[in-house]
Amino acid sequence: MPASLFALRRRLFVALGLGASAGCSSPSTSAAPPPHARELAAASARDACDPSFAFDACSPEDLARPLKPRCDADADCDDGAYGRCVAQNLGFGPSCVCDYSCSTDADCRSDEACVCDHAFADDHSRCVPALCRTDDDCPEGSCSFSSWFDGCRLESFLACRSPADTCLRDGDCETDQDCAYDPDAGHWRCRYEACAIGRPLVVAGTARTAPAVARADWLTEIDLPSDLPSAVQAAIASHWAAVAALEHASVASFAAVTLDLMTLGAPPDLLAEAQRAALDEIEHARFAWSLASLWSGRPLGPGPLALDGFPLRHVLEDIVEALVRDGCVGETLGAAEAQLCAELAAHPVLAARLADIASDETRHAALAWRTLRWLLASHGPAVRLVALGTVAELRAELATDLPPDDERPAAPGWGLLRPRARRAHHRETFAAVIEPVLRTLLGPTAVA
Ligand SMILES: [Fe+2]
Ligand SMILES: [Fe+2]
Repeated sequence: MPASLFALRRRLFVALGLGASAGCSSPSTSAAPPPHARELAAASARDACDPSFAFDACSPEDLARPLKPRCDADADCDDGAYGRCVAQNLGFGPSCVCDYSCSTDADCRSDEACVCDHAFADDHSRCVPALCRTDDDCPEGSCSFSSWFDGCRLESFLACRSPADTCLRDGDCETDQDCAYDPDAGHWRCRYEACAIGRPLVVAGTARTAPAVARADWLTEIDLPSDLPSAVQAAIASHWAAVAALEHASVASFAAVTLDLMTLGAPPDLLAEAQRAALDEIEHARFAWSLASLWSGRPLGPGPLALDGFPLRHVLEDIVEALVRDGCVGETLGAAEAQLCAELAAHPVLAARLADIASDETRHAALAWRTLRWLLASHGPAVRLVALGTVAELRAELATDLPPDDERPAAPGWGLLRPRARRAHHRETFAAVIEPVLRTLLGPTAVA
């Protein structure tokens, strides 16, 4: 285990009173517009989609491994059509998980369409949300396929093009952005990677952020070179703009954590830490906006943050799920990633600021784990059950393999990791840090 992960694990254990112990990618940038729905969807294709899987089936060896499978056989996979129990590598060992395919729209829910395998790098066909099915459903444009990898998962739609769209194709966007449908905006726009370092503001399963606007009041002085090769500079500028938007949204996320804590009658030290964390996130956002501005050559900051649809969490289960997903796991991965970026940093100023951020994020992770420990003690076994279920889902999400790295520049010295390297580091952190803390708080069965 790398020394940095060992140190992170030890700090979390100490925070729990147990003694010892800020990038992602998306499909390749294309000069072509996204595919028209009729090229991909079974509903408008002459033939049905191929429902077969490229994944390996779960072998007897996979099933016999000590890691608990989420399915034992195809017969366990009955939440959709063509259910298969397939092997996926979690990074800390193969596991058996259910996956589903389709041949026609009849295999999908009424609000979904079957999109054929070649839209997904040919692994298999999938049901996706269908906001349109043919051009007849789109009064102002065509019905097209949108696919965007947000750094954590693939988000796909059939959606209408319209004059409100702010891009037509990936080539209209900056490096490291994709032109894709945004369900919050209701139109197509350039979308940054949104795999959060730290605590995202999640609305309906998607990280919500404010748009970047021209303003200078969020900027701080940073003494870093601003004359890097232009392709690298554009890539790291858009990367840091995405990070800045997420850090800015984390302020709102911690405001929601405060409400969660007050709803459950939390002790004062947890409330005080949540306020301090929100202040940290303002500084993280200022730093990230400053980097984005430095390397884009223009002042950037956050516009208004739309909070419509953000649910106040009133139910214990919802609060625990958000705590485990965004706090315990998300902040721990964020702390480890910030530390990795600090170690790789190409300039001592950047290394020092990233190390400070890693330290802050470790405190935020510790706050989440301490909150979970308090909830386990004060609110009974329901907390443990929800935590176990949420962790199982997160393991499965980490198990999904990423698309191949494309040709866009990676610049680990400036904070921009390649998606596969980032995912591998998340898996290592999960195994070396998160699993041992989980085992301590939830018992041995917490680890698959
Ligand atoms: Fe954080
Ligand atoms: Fe942060």
